[in-house]
Amino acid sequence: MKYDFNYYNPTKIYFGKNSLDSLAGELANYGKNILLVYGKNSVKKIGLYDKVTDILKNAGKNIFELSGVKPNPSYSQLLDGAETVRKNNIDLILALGGGSVIDCSKGISVSAYCDGDPWEKYWVNGETVTNKIVPVGSILTMAGTGSEMNGGSVITNEEKMLKNGRVFGPDVYPKFSILNPEFTYSVPVYQMKSGIFDIMSHLMEQYFSGDDDNVTDYVIEGLLKSLIVSTRAALKDPEDYEARSNIMWNATLALNTVSGLSKTQDWEVHMIEHQLGAYTDCAHGMGLAVISIPYYKYIYKDGIDKFVRYAKNIWDIDVSAMNKDEAALAGIEKLFDFIKECGIPTTLRELGAAEEMLPKIAESSVKGGGYRHMDTEDILSVLKACY
Ligand code: NZQ
Ligand code: ZN
Repeated sequence: MKYDFNYYNPTKIYFGKNSLDSLAGELANYGKNILLVYGKNSVKKIGLYDKVTDILKNAGKNIFELSGVKPNPSYSQLLDGAETVRKNNIDLILALGGGSVIDCSKGISVSAYCDGDPWEKYWVNGETVTNKIVPVGSILTMAGTGSEMNGGSVITNEEKMLKNGRVFGPDVYPKFSILNPEFTYSVPVYQMKSGIFDIMSHLMEQYFSGDDDNVTDYVIEGLLKSLIVSTRAALKDPEDYEARSNIMWNATLALNTVSGLSKTQDWEVHMIEHQLGAYTDCAHGMGLAVISIPYYKYIYKDGIDKFVRYAKNIWDIDVSAMNKDEAALAGIEKLFDFIKECGIPTTLRELGAAEEMLPKIAESSVKGGGYRHMDTEDILSVLKACY
């Protein structure tokens, strides 16, 4: 472990089939006014909305709502939520949904009492939050982002054509998160696959950087191997509890910062996907899957030993008769095979991108990288390779 770190994660997790039973006890810690934030209709369809509102009513709470939060949550919806918080003196924001709903809730939490323009202050300039923060709790219905146990809030500003991510400190992490794998059974298969590739990408973004011997890389390898096994089982039977519960907890561990401790990290696939999302509104994980293959083929020579290790340890490839290039590329090819096996898109066209968007996406993406620094031309080459 080469780099010093402090680790603190304040989110309390309730995990399992009976985890919703813990909500009443948690509510006792907060005042009367609750803002319920949710998406379009899934929480009503699966009966979760009724269960949660019953618990809130029995606890004597006043319920306010922000509904219809979009996948790739918009800044304008966040501002509507912030106004509701101010007008009604909200004591707790309860997010009921996937990453978009939780990200929007964290955004509302820091924006409601912000002095100035929250977008500029927090999502563009990355300023520290000094204004009042409204506590957030979450009930997760879809596995993928890890937002249930981190400070991330990715918001799309539709006017500016920007999808910006901000990682806030522990004060903004959900105070508690309720994770019942059964709530994810109803997630459409396309969204389930998107969430799964998001998890895989979070793990690889943290893995493909640095060449020191680091316990975190072994943790990531374990999570990647488990994810592959659980994905195959869940695709065969979406109601396989063991598989769905493994995927759900894997998602949380992949981005509650444990899988990045004492490591340099990459995150360029995410930076490119965020702008792809701003232009196409594609499902986050699907965008990541399409970009990953050409991106890794573009950078692997700069981190070749790690790519050889990936081929051996994740995909069990016998590399003994291969040179490093062959071994690294064989690992990337296995990842591509897995993407195809899962029925995940492999081209930008399938995600609704038009060719003329590519230079704009490349230009507006945040530039960075792990093994290699990517500039606009590099990103454009990657985008063209997966168009
Ligand atoms: O709107 P509803 O009707 O609820 O439907 C949602 C939505 O259409 C549906 N869904 C969720 N749970 C369901 C369900 N449908 C049936 N049954 C259920 N139980 O799934 C659709 C997608 O939901 P969404 O919340 O958008 O998915 P996800 O969890 O993948 O979140 C994606 C967003 O999170 C950001 C992404 O960029 C994207 O904006 N990210 C957040 C991160 C973080 N906070 O740390 C990190 C990630 O890298 C990512 O960038
Ligand atoms: Zn992601």
